[in-house]
Amino acid sequence: MTLQASMVIDKDFVLSEVDPRIYGSFIEHLGRAVYGGIYEPGHPAADERGFRRDALEAIRKLKVPIIRYPGGNFVSGYNWEDGVGPQAERKRKLELAWWTTETNQVGTNEFAEWAKLAGSEVMMAVNLGTRGPDAARNLVEYCNHPAGSYYSDLRISHGYKEPHRIKTWCLGNEMDGPWQIGAKTAVEYGRLANETAKVMRWVDPNLELVACGSSGRGMPTFAEWEATVLDLSYDQVDYLSLHTYYNNNENDSMNFLARSMDMDQFIGSVASICDYIKAKKRSKKKLYLSMDEWNVWNTIGSSRASERWQVAPPEFEDTYTMEDALVVGCCLITLLKHADRVKIACLAQLINVIAPIMTENGGPLWLQTTYYPYMHASLYGRGTVLHPVIRSAKYDSKDFTDVPYLEAISVYNEESRQITLFAVNRHLSDSLELDVNLGSFGQVRLIEHIVLEHENIKATNTKNRPQEVVPHTRGTTLIDGGKLSVKLSKASWNVIRLEYVSE
Ligand code: AHR
Repeated sequence: MTLQASMVIDKDFVLSEVDPRIYGSFIEHLGRAVYGGIYEPGHPAADERGFRRDALEAIRKLKVPIIRYPGGNFVSGYNWEDGVGPQAERKRKLELAWWTTETNQVGTNEFAEWAKLAGSEVMMAVNLGTRGPDAARNLVEYCNHPAGSYYSDLRISHGYKEPHRIKTWCLGNEMDGPWQIGAKTAVEYGRLANETAKVMRWVDPNLELVACGSSGRGMPTFAEWEATVLDLSYDQVDYLSLHTYYNNNENDSMNFLARSMDMDQFIGSVASICDYIKAKKRSKKKLYLSMDEWNVWNTIGSSRASERWQVAPPEFEDTYTMEDALVVGCCLITLLKHADRVKIACLAQLINVIAPIMTENGGPLWLQTTYYPYMHASLYGRGTVLHPVIRSAKYDSKDFTDVPYLEAISVYNEESRQITLFAVNRHLSDSLELDVNLGSFGQVRLIEHIVLEHENIKATNTKNRPQEVVPHTRGTTLIDGGKLSVKLSKASWNVIRLEYVSE
């Protein structure tokens, strides 16, 4: 059977400019993300500082604008001072978020230096679990103050004359979670976030600050937490965080593929809470959202490494399937649909830990299925998002009703005169005929139609078969004047790249 869908892409239906930071990612001191991922001295691909060049190359290709660091749960027990100064003198410490040993061989300076090589900004998180405003303001002084104060001069004495100029900072991590080191009530955290933000800004008025929302929409205190925290900190913060992970542990693919609708509703709810507090305070300020942890996470139930206090043991090394890539694609489209409100988003995480990139210690690197939609969105999804005007056949699944088989969004870029249409066909066995009216753009030319698909939605890329699921450019898109006829194969991720030649 062939399903039908239609879409209007109109230049005047402007939704928002895309903040490129929605294509951000996350590297935590967890598992082999840092040690064995980006940093492995002695590896044949390592540079003189110990950074794996193969990892850097794969990350650069993604054009990741911003990377959150150093956690995650890790940050809530982290003393940043342990990770600076001569590496040989750094302390090995018991790390209580993941029950490992932290060698501190990579810290603030190494990461800032590495991020520069990767072409990314750092989104730094401060510890509001075991610490507070004092450690946070000292870290801002260490990172961003040019010179002439204790902490800025300390940085210079550590070999970093230029400040790191880190602009975006997270005020702790998942402070509502009982698993968090130093978890707080909403009132405790709201006050702490407010006071910490205040002094961080006194050190550097250019900072943009992210307050912690709930660790997930399913938390018992969700919504109440957001409202209370913002009530206590609204004037001092710029963004509120959202975290969400999806899995197909019930083995119900149609329901799993609809999970991006949960993300959509989650964003809508949190935006409403922000606006409620704005109204309550008669504030002129609009609060934006930072979806700073999102991904498919199938091993989410498994907890810390079985044996305690290992150094960088493999943790949460999910192997992603073709269907996982489709869900990541649908989530990227959902983030674009909310580009007016979501200004930062971090695919959690970037390497080895629930990640699009995998490495073996001492061995090769390979790309997971999810690498591709993430890369396509980051490369081709910059510019102006257009309101999606879509008609599509729909289905009901266990948790969702009226799920459109077609998930799609378009972005156009005035400078390059390009339009990109991202589209997922959620149907597992039928292709979808999509008619697109592009009239307002005049004459268009197809640059390419990229497709990620596989006969088997459970197919994966592994060390021994790294090319099992890779994109091709044999997609079928026909152009007739301002109209496109596109065939979206069953269970496929599509990137239709167009150029407008006349208006
Ligand atoms: O990304 C992995 C973990 O998930 C993070 O440390 C934590 O913030 C979340 O629960």
